[in-house]
Amino acid sequence: MLCVICMVLGIIVSVAGQPHARASDLYYTDITPVNDDTRYTALNPDVVLNEMNKVKHSKGNIVFTSGERTSGDRLIVNHYDDDNFASALDVEVLMSYPAGTSTGVTLTCIEVYVDMTADDSGGYLSKGGIGQTNVEILLTSNLTRSFVYETFIYGY
Ligand SMILES: *[C@@H]1O[C@H](CO)[C@@H](O)[C@H](O)[C@H]1NC(C)=O
Repeated sequence: MLCVICMVLGIIVSVAGQPHARASDLYYTDITPVNDDTRYTALNPDVVLNEMNKVKHSKGNIVFTSGERTSGDRLIVNHYDDDNFASALDVEVLMSYPAGTSTGVTLTCIEVYVDMTADDSGGYLSKGGIGQTNVEILLTSNLTRSFVYETFIYGY
């Protein structure tokens, strides 16, 4: 019995030793259908969107990046979501790190892998970014029947 308690405590302590390694530090919306009145740029007309670097690997398969891996950084956020729609829709996802108060982590690299039935997708930073302690990421795709993405955020 004591052994089990020790093990449990050991696990809690080792998890607590990496306070920034939780995906719960990320706020994210569902993959949300939008129209011209509800898309992010309509609701935030003054926002300045910074396009992420974009590499198209094949039809409907895109990698967005910002920054680069730096010695001493580590994975801060890994988040995956997917959805399918009965008809082709315009969709958006908004992610924000951290979800709450500052974690003190300086961001070094952001990678988002996107896959969808549509040909194209947009990946933008709408707040914060590399070298800062916060970021807001907007993903968009028009007339798509599916949307799958996985986000990796690194920092130190
Ligand atoms: C989606 O459509 C909107 C409105 O026409 C346009 O502003 C936006 O650039 C499009 N996004 C993509 C990724 O093509």
